[in-house]
Order: sequence, then structure tokens, then C-alpha cells
Amino acid sequence: MNKFLWGSATASYQCEGGWNEGNRGETQWDNFSHHSALNINHVNGDVASDFYHKYEEDIKLLADGGQNTFRFSIAWSRIIPDGVGEINPAGIEFYNKVIDTCLKYHLVPNVTLFHYDLPKPIYDIGGWENRKTITYFVRYAQICFKYFGDRVPLWSTINEPNYYSYCSYIVGNYPPNKKLDFNAFCKSGYHLLLASARVVREYKKLNLPGRIGIVIDTSNVQTKRSDDLSMKAARKADLFYNKWVTDTVCKGYFPQQLFTLTKDSGIDLSFVKKADKPIFMSGIVDFLGLNIYSRAFIKPYTEGKTEVFMNNKGKNSKVKEGIKIKDWFETDYDPDIPRTKWGSELYPKCMYDELMDIKKNYGNILIYITENGIGEYETADKTGYVVDDERIEIMKKYICYMLKAKKEGVNVQGYYAWSTMDLYSWVNGYEKRYGLIRVDFDHDLKRIPKKSYFWYKNLILQNTEEG
Ligand code: BG6
Repeated sequence: MNKFLWGSATASYQCEGGWNEGNRGETQWDNFSHHSALNINHVNGDVASDFYHKYEEDIKLLADGGQNTFRFSIAWSRIIPDGVGEINPAGIEFYNKVIDTCLKYHLVPNVTLFHYDLPKPIYDIGGWENRKTITYFVRYAQICFKYFGDRVPLWSTINEPNYYSYCSYIVGNYPPNKKLDFNAFCKSGYHLLLASARVVREYKKLNLPGRIGIVIDTSNVQTKRSDDLSMKAARKADLFYNKWVTDTVCKGYFPQQLFTLTKDSGIDLSFVKKADKPIFMSGIVDFLGLNIYSRAFIKPYTEGKTEVFMNNKGKNSKVKEGIKIKDWFETDYDPDIPRTKWGSELYPKCMYDELMDIKKNYGNILIYITENGIGEYETADKTGYVVDDERIEIMKKYICYMLKAKKEGVNVQGYYAWSTMDLYSWVNGYEKRYGLIRVDFDHDLKRIPKKSYFWYKNLILQNTEEG
């Protein structure tokens, strides 16, 4: 794998559909999208982009678009329908076909083991709040390595332990929809990282011809001021958003300051066990997968209550996303930075800033940009073609900043656009589109490459020619 990897990414629940086909078990997201009043969009991933049936067409389209790699995730509940029991041959067969199709079209498969779709029976015992989930996850990972490890050179244990726990236990817009529950946030976050470390250790024992990492959504922390109070708040925000994960997976231990600060904030840390220490140390990753969308612009927050805001409704909402954590920090708003319709900052330079920060802290660690892109409302012309100039403009800037960091010595070896095709967005359903390829969700799920798909193809060609 000496070539720079240029590709795009998906996740099982968001694109596969076929939710009750091939003996797939129910997941936390099926349960949430079918039954919860908190599912504000009233849509689900039952059919999604129908990748379950159209995977061959999608993978061929990727290759035709000049891409040389495809990031996707495996649904735990296809491999082991109840999460803990029998292996499902139909699930193994499905992913064998996906992997073999990638290889047929010369695409490097980049596989994530867990991208949010926890089997329902495991969710019912408390999900990641329950330590037992770690043992079940390790077994599931071992099965994946056994059946697919010979052909998959890039594995990631978990997608975004930080953002996933943030949405599940602080914002409350992901199941189990707990709001501002910092105890559950810390506990599940700790278990996710311990699970990741154990899986990394298991993988390394097997001496397979690949690498294993983790995927993190990093938000480069920035402030308007540089006084002492602002710098202290910035350090806390950096621990909260980034370093509890990046330090732990790159160095093998949690930042000591984090323990002191969380204890001072009244968090019950009884889930931290002495015996876990060597596990974290032996679970250091081979690479970091970075999902880069934006930065965290913050200021100190010392008076007032802890609150969280999220724009889950897009252009119909005036809410800007953000958080206020007493004695830690609060989100600041920069009027000069444009925002998406969902209120997130559009600040492409965060790509460069974050990559340089990673280099400063972790040296030459291998990096893949595992997600980057922009969610949009989109309309197609009569033929189904979408002219997504805004996506092209913003991705161009992100990619320029990535290449600048690479020139300055950051060991970044791949870039994945989010997403390969339009798919289900966790809380925004099908209105928020990220794909390089349009999916006609209203009719026959037809695939129609957007303008950005051709632009990306050309960019890959130019960058490959120039080496
Ligand atoms: C990342 C996730 O956080 O962001 C993806 O890994 C997700 O699964 C993407 O779809 C965009 O988020 P959203 O909520 O805008 O769809």
C-alpha cells in the first residue's frame, strides 16, 4: 500500500437497508427508528440506500470514479444476530462478497468494526455502560478477523467513541437518549476505549498482514483570547473533545489531568480498574482515522448551568449547536465564519490545524482522513443530476489544507470523502445529503453521480500523476 489512498466512506446502518434480511438481528437503531418518539424525522434505515442489494453497482461506481479504496463498516448483528450467540453464515457471506468485489475492482477495503449499530440484546443490558459488552465485542472482532482478515489490510475498531458517547449521553439525540448524563458518558467512553484496546491486542496476536486503528472525530480547539483563563478552558475542551481518546490510543494511558478534573467534577470513576492499565498500553493503535468536519471554538464558562444545544432540524431551526459546561468551557460563536444549514461552522482550515496538532503531540503516527465532507439540502435536475458546487468548493479547501500539512511532514496517507452515496443521516434522515452520488430515495433508489463525483475523479487523477 505505497500509494496515497483516495476513496469515500459509508457505514452499515446508514446505507445497507435489508434490515431483516439474511438473518440480520435487530439493532439499537432499528429499535430507535421504529419505536421512539424522539426519532424526529420519522424515517429509518430499513431500506436506506439499499447497499445490501446494490453493493456491486456501488463498488463499481467507486472504482469508475478513480477511487482506490472504500471505507465501510460491518454490522455486528449480521455476523452474530443477537450479538453474543451463533455466527450467521449469511452475514459472513454478505461481507465476503463486499470484500471480494472491492478486490475485483482494485479497491483497498478499509473496515470499521463498530459504527453505532449495537445489537439490540446488548443495548438491552446497558450497551457500552455495561462492562460485559467489551467481552462480546472482542469475540465479534475475533470472528471478523478469522473470516476476513486475510483480505482486509485496514481495520478500525470503533467509529468516533467521543461523538457517539456525546450524542448518546450528553445531547441525548442518539439512543439511549440520556441528556447531560456525564457519569454515563465517562463510563461508556472508558469501556469503548478499553474494548478498542483489547481488540487491537487480539489483532496483533494474529500476525495478519494488515494494520489496525481507531476512527475519531477531532475538533481542533481554538479561542478568541489567549489569557490564562481562556487557555485553561481550551485545555479542558481539548481533553473533553480530543485528548481523552487520542492520548489513550496513541500513548497507552489516559491523561492524568483528566482523572483529576473529572473527579473534581463529581464523576464516579469506580469503573476504572487497575488491571486495565496494561491493556491500554498493549492496545496502542497502528494508525489514527480522523473524521474532520469542524473545529471547537470555545471560551471560559464559570457561572451558570450546564446546557447543550443541537440543531437537529436544519434550516427550520435557529439553534446553533454548542455546549456550556460549568467550570470547563462553553462554545463561542464567531460571526465571521459561515455555517451549514444545521448550524455547524464551515472552517476548512481546521483540517490543517488539527493535523499539525496531531504531529506535535504524536509525531509520525500514520493518519487517514476517514471522513470529510458537507451535508446539504439538494435538488436534482430532470435527469437526476445534482450540481453541488458548494460541496466542491469546500472539499477543495479541506483537501488543500490536508496536502499542505502533508508537505510539512504530517504522515497522512489517505483521504475518504463522506459519503460514497447519499445515505441515512443519524438524526437528519434523508434530507441531509453528503454523497458524491445521488440516490433517488423517492423512486427506485437509482444512483446518479453528482458533479462532485467527477470533480473528485479529476482531483485524484491529478494528484496521482503528480505523485
Ligand atoms: C460522523 C459519522 O460523525 O458524521 C457519520 O461518523 C455521520 O456516521 C457523519 O453520518 C455526518 O453526521 P450527520 O449527523 O450530519 O449525518
